[in-house]
This record gives sequence, C-alpha cells and structure tokens, in this order.
Amino acid sequence: MALRTRRYDMVVPHIASFLAVVALTVAGMPDGLSSIPITGPALSSCASEPRFFSCENTTPIKNTCCSPTPGGLVLATQFWSTYTGLEKHGQKLPKGSWTIHGLWPDNCDGSYEQYCDLSRQYDPAPSPAKFPNGTLIPPYKGPGVDTFIRQFGRKDLLAFMNKYWINQGAPNADLWAHEFSKHATCTSTFDVRCYGPSYRKHQDVINYYDAAIRAHHHYPTFDILAASGIVPSNKTSYTLDQFERALTSQIGATPYLGCTNNGTVLSEVWYFNHVSGTEQYGTFKPVESSAASSCSKSGPIWYYERSRGSEQEVREWVSRENVD
Ligand SMILES: *[C@@H]1O[C@H](CO)[C@@H](O)[C@H](O)[C@H]1NC(C)=O
Ligand SMILES: *[C@@H]1O[C@H](CO)[C@@H](O)[C@H](O)[C@H]1NC(C)=O
Ligand SMILES: *[C@@H]1O[C@H](CO)[C@@H](O)[C@H](O)[C@H]1NC(C)=O
Repeated sequence: MALRTRRYDMVVPHIASFLAVVALTVAGMPDGLSSIPITGPALSSCASEPRFFSCENTTPIKNTCCSPTPGGLVLATQFWSTYTGLEKHGQKLPKGSWTIHGLWPDNCDGSYEQYCDLSRQYDPAPSPAKFPNGTLIPPYKGPGVDTFIRQFGRKDLLAFMNKYWINQGAPNADLWAHEFSKHATCTSTFDVRCYGPSYRKHQDVINYYDAAIRAHHHYPTFDILAASGIVPSNKTSYTLDQFERALTSQIGATPYLGCTNNGTVLSEVWYFNHVSGTEQYGTFKPVESSAASSCSKSGPIWYYERSRGSEQEVREWVSRENVD
C-alpha cells in the first residue's frame, strides 16, 4: 500500500502560519506518516458468514479470516516470574500483575501447529530449532519487532508491552517476535490475505499484539487471586485447589496452571477459549483446560514474591492539581 500523502505535500507554501502548524504535526509523527494507521483486518465479508463459537461449528468454516481455523481453541497465556535477569537494563516486572506470555491457536483436539509461515519468521532464537522432519527454522537476524511497532507510530503499544509483556534472560522484543512467528502465523485470522489489498507490511504483527493484550485484559489473574486472599508470599504456600477454585469462580472454567520445581512453584496460567468471530475483535468464551496441571495435586505450591528490585509500579500517579 502507498503511504498516505505527507501532510506537507498538500500545503500552500505561502501560508506561513499554516506551515508552522503542519511542521509541528509532522515532527510528532513517525517518518512518512501523517497519522497512525489502522492495522485491523478487512472483515466486511464476514457479515454473511454463519455465527458460531470456534470448535463448536457444525459445518466447515469457509472464510478462515472470520474465525480461527484450524486453531479454534484459543489460549490466552500468562507468566508469573520473580525476576527478569535484565533488571539493570530497566526490564522489570509489573507490580500487581502477571505478565503476558502470548495468544495461541490450539487445534480443537488440543494439538497445535507452530512456525507456519517462514516468510514471517522474526524469532531470533526459534524454539524448537527444527521442524519434526529435521528442517531448521532459520533464526531471524533483522531489526527487532519493536522497530515494526515504531514504524506504525504505536508508542502507546510499545509502552504497554514494555510494562506487561516481559521476557526473562533476553530483551522483551525477542519474546514478542517469538510469540508472533511461532503462534500468530498459525492463526488464520492473522493471515496476510485477511488484510485485503491495502495490507501494509507488518500490520499483522501490530494487530496480533493488540489482540493478545485485549485477551490478557479478560483475565486479571493477580486481582482475582488477591480478591480471594491469595497473594504472593515467601512464607505461606497454597494448594492447587485453592488457586483453581479462586480463578474458576470468576472465569467460569478451569484454566491450566503450570508449575516448575517438580510441581511446587507456580509459574504460568493458560486460559482456554472458544471464539465467536476473530481473535482480534470477537467474543471469547472460557472453556475447561484440556491440559493436566503440572502443579502438585496435593503438596504445597509456592506463589513467590518477586525479588527485590525486580518489580516496578506500572500504574501512573495523577497529581492533585491535574484532578481538580
Ligand atoms: C519439513 O516440515 C516443514 C513444516 O511442516 C515444511 O515447511 C518443510 O517443507 C518440510 N521439509 C521437508 C524437506 O520435507
Ligand atoms: C517430585 O514430586 C513427586 C510427587 O509430588 C515425588 O514423589 C518425587 O519424589 C519428587 N521428585 C523430586 C526429585 O523431588
Ligand atoms: C521470594 O522467594 C523467591 C524464591 O526463592 C526469590 O526468588 C525471591 O527473591 C523472594 N522474594 C523476596 C522479596 O524475598
């Protein structure tokens, strides 16, 4: 797609004051853009499609841009970790919140595909490194996906992701790239062709990040647990049943809880969904986890406090003067 005309091309040169205003506007925009572009897919043809929740359709799905298929079992996944390893570089965990892992397209039977489109391979360290047939998944060496976000002028998105979508032992953008190339390329509603003839390179990447964040907002794990009296503690442990009951009481379906250290340290949660419409804009319906928890069924489970210096306040204080 051709970029929209730069605003200064349209200016009548002798109107000096107008020029000044325009110069200011352009200065605040990313190169080559006069406004932040829309990154959503072209869905007008979806209006005539039948309505159903993914994995519950009784007839085959024809337009796969309208509903994720295969991959109709949609997982919104989150991490609980206590450090990032890059605290010195300012990479910290958000106080009072779990972090985003990704948005994954499982098949309705619980199996899944990965790295489905090598022309959209932006992961610098693919995991797995090879396909089952032994073919290497080539590590990406180009500019990070954070540069794609900047090219779309989405300072807001970048700021949010750097607060809530946090990697461990490597820069955040490596995790974002991994999630897009491993999972979004296998999700039909993010296929390049779904964006229509005006597709602009990488708009699917931006669109996936917005969608993963929207899904993440449905599941405020920290707040739900805290409201049931379950807060991170290095003194008191909990049981799997306590976590599951607290979350299920609000979600309406049991999520998957993942633990490390032989089932004793809580580290992740996966919320399973069927989706009516697209992952981008459709309605998520929570469904029971189809994976068995890796946490101990009867033993103590630790929901550890973050390490000192690994956490930061991510909400913003509004001063009295601004409120009044
Ligand atoms: C190996 O599997 C990948 C992914 O399914 C496929 O793209 C590739 O063509 C296969 N390579 C060979 C040599 O069969
Ligand atoms: C892991 O946990 C199981 C059951 O909770 C226990 O039987 C086993 O001994 C543990 N293994 C290790 C290495 O601690
Ligand atoms: C809590 O315990 C975990 C696990 O040992 C540790 O990593 C973390 O630093 C501890 N947090 C605090 C505040 O002591």
